[in-house]
Amino acid sequence: MSDIPFNVPELTGRELDYMGQALRSGHTSSGGPFSQRAGAILKEVTGAQEVLLTTSCTDALELSCLLLGLGPGDTVVVPSFTFTSSALAFARQGARILFCDIEPETLGLDPRHLAELLDDTVRAVVVVHYAGVACDVEGIRAALADRPDVAIVEDAAHGLYGHWRAEPLGSLGRLSTLSFHETKNFVCGEGGALLLNDPRDVDRARVLYDKGTDRQAFFLGQVDKYSWRDTGSSFGLSDVLAAYLLAQLEQAESIQARRRALFERYHEALADPAAELGLRLPVVPEDRDPAWHLFHVLLPDADLRPAVMRSMREQGIATTFHYVPLHSSEGGRRFAARPTECPVSTDVSTRLLRLPFFNTLGEDDVARVVEALVGAVKAAS
Ligand SMILES: Cc1ncc(COP(=O)(O)O)c(C=O)c1O
Repeated sequence: MSDIPFNVPELTGRELDYMGQALRSGHTSSGGPFSQRAGAILKEVTGAQEVLLTTSCTDALELSCLLLGLGPGDTVVVPSFTFTSSALAFARQGARILFCDIEPETLGLDPRHLAELLDDTVRAVVVVHYAGVACDVEGIRAALADRPDVAIVEDAAHGLYGHWRAEPLGSLGRLSTLSFHETKNFVCGEGGALLLNDPRDVDRARVLYDKGTDRQAFFLGQVDKYSWRDTGSSFGLSDVLAAYLLAQLEQAESIQARRRALFERYHEALADPAAELGLRLPVVPEDRDPAWHLFHVLLPDADLRPAVMRSMREQGIATTFHYVPLHSSEGGRRFAARPTECPVSTDVSTRLLRLPFFNTLGEDDVARVVEALVGAVKAAS
């Protein structure tokens, strides 16, 4: 029996053709025809005013921080249970971080904790849709109702094609960011995007994106020469990688349908054993359509996880844990505005186990993973 890896990025059909076209065209830097086409799809899916393709989601978060002008004296609220970049992008500019706990069901930012943390120094709140299931957007908006000065930065690294009610993930922040890292639903090796949902941000974002120059305005015929205007960096994605990304985005329907089927198969096959063994399966509230990014279970006891992972590895099945809580990490403590308590993040991070989840995972593989997991949990309990 062959091993079941944790993740396998798929070539869906036209990637090599499009990348070859990009290489032969002579336009291999950012902003070429493939970037335009990929950006147009992302605009249509999310309704964004403007899409800037970046070299990563981390990069898009860094651009968000520059655009909001955050730095020393400012505070950004970030969930403790997220990837380092959600906080790092702000910390590196000198802003301090206030780590917020998550809700136990969706594993998204807890609006009650957010309301307690808000003080006059808070200028932005980062929200994450864990696994592509929307966080409590209504609760977060209510907590921020009398703070129009606080920007929502939506880290939608897991969220493309998901919805909160009728609103697409990626449309919920003043600024929203995407990831096309090889582990995501749509990949191009390393890549990301900044979605601008407020038209007032567009002109300045284009300058910061392009080394602080008004080169984009020059290309659009708005100025007759371009020069240095503002802060910024080189955030653009090569058109060769945009070509890879476009081929993936063109297959969105098929990719999402296969991932949804996988998610549902895992959920169905694990429903009875989960009730028997005390495993918690992902919770999807009725008003949310997930983006089907990953599948996880919460083990009943943190002590089981090493043995379960070892047993599955011995059977050729790769599993993994996820985020180590940021509030208690060395970097998190260093960049925090003040220490905060995030008990749900701590608990979840010790019990969470991610199962193999990728476009080409077969039905038989899912059955094998489920059988191995159930056996491993029983043996370890
Ligand atoms: C929630 C979240 N934000 C940001 C990132 C960083 O994405 P990238 O690797 O594209 O910079 C990740 C990476 O997995 C993530 O999970």
